Amino acid sequence: MAYRARSFNLSGLTGISDKTLEMHFKLYEGYVKSTNTLNEKIQEFLKDGKVDQEETPGFSEIKRRFGFEYNGMVLHEYYFENLKKQGRGDPERESTFHKAAKADFGEYKVWKADFVSTGQMRGVGWAICYLDPKGHLSNHWINLHEEGNIAGYQPILVMDVWEHAFLLDYKPAERGKYIESFFENVDWDKVEARIGSAKLKQKAA
Ligand SMILES: [Fe+2]
Repeated sequence: MAYRARSFNLSGLTGISDKTLEMHFKLYEGYVKSTNTLNEKIQEFLKDGKVDQEETPGFSEIKRRFGFEYNGMVLHEYYFENLKKQGRGDPERESTFHKAAKADFGEYKVWKADFVSTGQMRGVGWAICYLDPKGHLSNHWINLHEEGNIAGYQPILVMDVWEHAFLLDYKPAERGKYIESFFENVDWDKVEARIGSAKLKQKAA
């Protein structure tokens, strides 16, 4: 099975230039391509129905790289999906997200301080707000693309903080400005929809 790169209509965001987005879409397409290539290589190893001893080092390397490339593909899709032109800085007070943030963090602004500070952490990766299996919001740092994702947690809001996400628009030390811009463009309706579908899945489980 091959994955296809999706397209996202995001030109005209606030504080994140079209140039950055074009470059970022190309990078994303690279992850889709690499994920497909790794899958093909795994199929080749398995063509005779087994992994021979001399194939083990190559097979292992591909399996390890798969988590990086696959998460690189999927996390970019979550990220682009939760952005939109003329987004809103913060969610409506009556939204499920706002209420959940208040319930789990005391106040929405405390949730936001936690999320923003997670995104400010030194290193290359992502800040992700998940819904945990009990229905609570939980913010996490993901190193690279694959270290720190938690099994069973559903991504609700995903923010890329690799430098490529903002370097054409901001200096490396200005990650905070990029994070402010990120919030200007969040599609909170998408976030609401993700909470809804995650809760449906939890009910069904
Ligand atoms: Fe990225």
